[in-house]
Amino acid sequence: MDFVGNHILSVSQFSREDVQRIFKVADDVRPYAMRKRITRVLEGAISSNMFFEPSTRTRVSFGSAFNLLGGDVRETTEVKASALAKGESLFDTARVLSGYSDVIVMRHPESGSVAEFAEASRVPVINGGDGPNEHPSQALLDLYTMRQEMATHGKTLDHLRIALIGDLKYGRAVHSLCKLLGLYDNISLHLVSPPGLEIPEEITDELRGKGHSVMPFHIMEDGIHEVDILYVTRTQEERFPSQEEADKYRGLFRLNQAIYTQHCEPNTVIMHPLPRDSRAQAQELDEDLNQNPNLAIFRQTDNGVLVRMALFALVLDVVDEVDNHAKPVTWYTAKRHQPL
Ligand code: CP
Repeated sequence: MDFVGNHILSVSQFSREDVQRIFKVADDVRPYAMRKRITRVLEGAISSNMFFEPSTRTRVSFGSAFNLLGGDVRETTEVKASALAKGESLFDTARVLSGYSDVIVMRHPESGSVAEFAEASRVPVINGGDGPNEHPSQALLDLYTMRQEMATHGKTLDHLRIALIGDLKYGRAVHSLCKLLGLYDNISLHLVSPPGLEIPEEITDELRGKGHSVMPFHIMEDGIHEVDILYVTRTQEERFPSQEEADKYRGLFRLNQAIYTQHCEPNTVIMHPLPRDSRAQAQELDEDLNQNPNLAIFRQTDNGVLVRMALFALVLDVVDEVDNHAKPVTWYTAKRHQPL
């Protein structure tokens, strides 16, 4: 795809080559993300973060990514803090905000709402998660992390064996991730969910149509053996018709060190888009795994900054200028890399 000036709304926009391009730029901006180098390539540019659902990782890492490229970030974090609460339409909001911004990152609880907003925007819009539909940047950072983790075991994304575990019905990250995995060769997917929370059929149909192996499981222990990666997800209780309905599924699947040791191959990588639900009644990913070296959840979150810097650089057409706008490191960034 041509990234320049375009919206990023769905992973369906990407070919395998596009994903490789994003990963190459993400690799190249690593020194800037690590604050070992400084660039001001987006100095004077403004990103508007419009987050109409709670977020820690996506909101802050998109903001940090833009700052690390030299730009400024404006944030609106709740509907009630915006004129949407006074009945303004997404169309009007988009037209107004795109006059104030060079790029807009938006999260919204309704599927398709970010695309609707983008139609009225005069600047690129990046989908930060639209209801249960898609979360493209999360899937990209997940895949980037999978590539990195597999490389440490001499493997690639082709022939990957992966178990997706938990609420696969409402989890937008797994929806986007499955579509991206479909770009690779001979993927084996274990889809491990409680009855009633299976992944939408159109996603499995698409994967099977491309020749991938897709196996459903309803018992967690049956689905987590003979895979390279476990990708655990939270029950998305905010998407259920009622709290009572969500409560039926809470705590059904809990991965902990004992289950991992008993059922998984050595060095099976453990991932989760986060947040994990650490409340006693949930705990889909037990904190007793925190010392397990195969737990990649915080490597995932770190990679979020790289991938989001890459998306900004591509969409705003500054990839070839990042190094040209490098500045000497500041006193603080030099000090930061000294042992304390
Ligand atoms: N993974 C993810 O989207 O996290 P946040 O909700 O904290 O942004």
